[in-house]
Amino acid sequence: DDSNSFVVVANRLPVDMTVHPDGSYSISPSPGGLVTGLSPVLEQHRGCWVGWPGTVDVAPEPFRTDTGVLLHPVVLTASDYEGFYEGFSNATLWPLFHDLIVTPVYNTDWWHAFREVNLKFAEAVSQVAAHGATVWVQDYQLLLVPGILRQMRPDLKIGFFLHIPFPSPDLFRQLPWREEIVRGMLGADLVGFHLVQNAENFLALTQQVAGTAGSHVGQPDTLQVSGEALVREISAHVETADGRRVSVGAFPISIDVEMFGEASKSAVLDLLKTLDEPETVFLGVDRLDYTKGILQRLLAFEELLESGALEADRAVLLQVATPSRERIDHYRVSRSQVEEAVGRINGRFGRMGRPVVHYLHRSLSKNDLQVLYTAADVMLVTPFKDGMNLVAKEFVANHRDGTGALVLSEFAGAATELTGAYLCNPFDVESIKRQMVAAVHDLKHNPESAATRMKTNSEQVYTHDVNVWASSFLDCLAQSGENS
Ligand code: UDP
Ligand code: G6P
Repeated sequence: DDSNSFVVVANRLPVDMTVHPDGSYSISPSPGGLVTGLSPVLEQHRGCWVGWPGTVDVAPEPFRTDTGVLLHPVVLTASDYEGFYEGFSNATLWPLFHDLIVTPVYNTDWWHAFREVNLKFAEAVSQVAAHGATVWVQDYQLLLVPGILRQMRPDLKIGFFLHIPFPSPDLFRQLPWREEIVRGMLGADLVGFHLVQNAENFLALTQQVAGTAGSHVGQPDTLQVSGEALVREISAHVETADGRRVSVGAFPISIDVEMFGEASKSAVLDLLKTLDEPETVFLGVDRLDYTKGILQRLLAFEELLESGALEADRAVLLQVATPSRERIDHYRVSRSQVEEAVGRINGRFGRMGRPVVHYLHRSLSKNDLQVLYTAADVMLVTPFKDGMNLVAKEFVANHRDGTGALVLSEFAGAATELTGAYLCNPFDVESIKRQMVAAVHDLKHNPESAATRMKTNSEQVYTHDVNVWASSFLDCLAQSGENS
């Protein structure tokens, strides 16, 4: 089966499974941008995908999806789930890599669980990958897989891509296990990040950590930003202790633009009618994560209602908050803060049958999201820190006609590309308010300028879609390691 010559390994499979008491499974799409980005790539390559199906202690046999991707489920036990997933991945690495929005917990038992589960994933890949296959390892949950896999299977071509930010070396150096992690990543032939800044942080780190470890990571070459490349690719090289050459580059992820055209007119009109035909529809779509700045955005909306800059009869905010990592303390706190604010704002400014904030705590299908994107006037994407943020790209792809406006955090990776956005500092509620007001003002009084901005955004996404991302990474991977 030639599926086995192109293998993607990620903590998540594209499907999230639930086991029923009779042993049968039901399936829903997995949350998050990684799955959105990789699914179309896997479908095109007809490759296979090794990952966790979202269940604990059990997993189905390998199977093929309707779209032709072969899935190889990896079983996580309840203790793997706690130590590896909730613990080291999401209470240590996630907050550390998002610049300490909350304080990371350093726990040796979690670290052991992380090592063991990374070994488990590497073994699963080793069993399915054909001789000489290309293996593409994804994201922060699997930082050690490239190194382990390189030892098990020197015949493989190994790429690694990080979907979240890579922090400055000063933050990363807090990690008690920093050397093992850097060595794990350097097991790949190519290490990719979204942004040049992330890649530079990693390169600086390889020198510092190498120094403390006494290993022989060489000086990276000067970073080169290729002017001709469609993507702002950079590549540099790191020489490892065992004399291999590892390429490092920046490859901003994107979306499958074909999925995000305008929604059907009648569905949009129905929605607007249900909402009582507001003049301005604000929209937020996020996993309920403390990195996303949902509370700050609600506060900005509340203060604008309070000051009269927005009128409660004319404006409405739709907030979709997808449940995420719900047993972790900071996620619980974040949810209760958000829900308290929603209740307070509706209590203050809503009328009977006419809330000002419509809040959904569930996951919507891409079709339903498309209706929301088309209906929205102003999209609010206000994370404190975000690797890329595909929701922002989905919204602008949906507004190719130049309607609508995007208020975007300057700390989202997408801000480097979406230069027509109204950029805000999410740590400063005044800044969010100013950009919301500017967006509303331009839509009403300066529509040409708003349309130029939006077209600039959508043009960027149409010319740099997910295929550009995947092919630039995979081309670079194919060339890497050749001189070693
Ligand atoms: N998404 C979805 N249904 C929802 C909310 C979000 O399908 O109810 C998708 C959304 O379309 C996007 C992804 O989840 O493709 C979120 O990716 P993003 O990069 O914005 O954030 P992440 O969740 O990866 O941090
Ligand atoms: C982000 C991460 C992904 C992760 C997704 C959903 O996009 O980069 O690796 O899969 O969030 O989070 P979850 O913990 O539910 O997999």
